[in-house]
This record gives sequence, C-alpha cells and structure tokens, in this order.
Amino acid sequence: MSFYDVLHRRRDTRGEFTGAPIPDDVLRRVLSAAHAAPSVGLTQPWDFVLVRDEGTRLAFRDHVAAEREVFAAELTGERAEVFSRVKVEGIMESTLGVAVTYDPERGSPAVLGRHAIADAGLYSVCLAIQNLWLAATEEGLGLGWVSFYREEVLSGLLGLPEGVRPVAWLCLGPVTELPDAPDLERHGWRNRVPLEAVLHQERYTQRSSR
Ligand SMILES: Cc1cc2nc3c(=O)[nH]c(=O)nc-3n(C[C@H](O)[C@H](O)[C@H](O)COP(=O)(O)O)c2cc1C
Repeated sequence: MSFYDVLHRRRDTRGEFTGAPIPDDVLRRVLSAAHAAPSVGLTQPWDFVLVRDEGTRLAFRDHVAAEREVFAAELTGERAEVFSRVKVEGIMESTLGVAVTYDPERGSPAVLGRHAIADAGLYSVCLAIQNLWLAATEEGLGLGWVSFYREEVLSGLLGLPEGVRPVAWLCLGPVTELPDAPDLERHGWRNRVPLEAVLHQERYTQRSSR
C-alpha cells in the first residue's frame, strides 16, 4: 500500500478480529514504528505492556462492560437505541492487548518544550499510538482503541507505578477485513465531516455547529 492508502485504509476494529497469532517479526515492526514517534524533549515517555493473559483480559473486559453501562445510562431515545448496537471493544477476540502508558517523569526535570504545555507529553504518546496503528494497517492487522475504563482500574490490573498513566488499551491482531467506513458511521451514531468543515483561513471562523 502507498502511504496515503495506509492512512485512508486504517480503521478502528472491534468485530473483525480472528484471534490468529501475530508473527514475532511483525509485532516487532509495529512496536518499533510506535517507538520511532516524535516526542517532546525527546523523552519517549511511552511504555507498551503486552497483555496475553486471559485472566487480565477478562477482568478488563468486565470493567469495560460496566463502563459501557455507565455511558449508556446517560443516553435516551434514539441515541440509546443506536448505542445499544455499537460494539466498543474486541478485548477477548483480538490476539493481543497492548496497553500504552505515559510516564511524565521520563526525561524530567526540564523537559524541553513542555514547560508551558504539560499535555505535550501526552501528545507524544498519542503519536506513538498513531504510528502503531498505521504500521498495523500496513501489516494487515486490525487495531481497536479502548477508552471505556477508569485509569485507576487499568493501572491496578497492569501494576503501573505511581505517576505512570494508562493512555490506551489497544486490541491488536489479524482481522477478516478492514471495513471501508468507521463503525460509528455504519451504525448511524455520527458521520465524518468534510475537510472544509474544519478548515480556517488566518483566524478561527465560528460556525453554527461544532
Ligand atoms: C482516543 C480514542 C479513544 C477511542 N476509544 C474507543 C473506545 O473506547 N471504543 C471504541 O469502540 N472505539 C474507540 N475509538 C475509536 C473511534 O471510535 C474511531 O476512531 C472513530 O469512530 C473513527 O473511526 P476509524 O478510526 O475507523 O476511522 C477511540 C478512538 C480514539 C482516537
């Protein structure tokens, strides 16, 4: 695939995982791609926790199911109905869980570029995740980002040290296909907007809908 094909083929996957193994060299390549991401002050503030253990995954799956209910309880009418059909994770079906964490202490004190924007560290972790996602796409793997969790629960499951934050649980593995459209669009939850809707010239133009 060309680079732009990879960008546009990338998809958040949940229901398409086969559970087939990921060859070691492929896993190494996608993790190396993540680790090649830019980072504020060259801190590389990420860690990748590979989770294969069924017990850990079951415990996380159950927690995510409970958080799904928390969110569902906020919804009424058509929103509730549409959401009831949306799958929000593929924790057990995927081959591997990759938990990505953020360590704000790495490279500190005096992180070059973070003195005014503390979030720059988190931005760096998200870039690593995006690299991983694109590399997975190039390798024919699916990846699904799960954020229906409380940080303290996932931290406990993974044994994270004090101060290290979980940023994502990624479901990773071979898939039957990468769908053409986002799952949320297919279910009628929300549609993508065209580039023009988010493009501004010189100054931010207020629009009727955000
Ligand atoms: C920060 C972040 C958190 C997300 N959390 C979830 C999640 O908990 N469950 C889920 O099903 N999808 C999750 N997604 C996937 C988005 O729903 C998805 O990226 C979006 O609908 C666009 O679809 P696409 O990635 O296939 O283009 C998350 C994506 C991001 C970037």
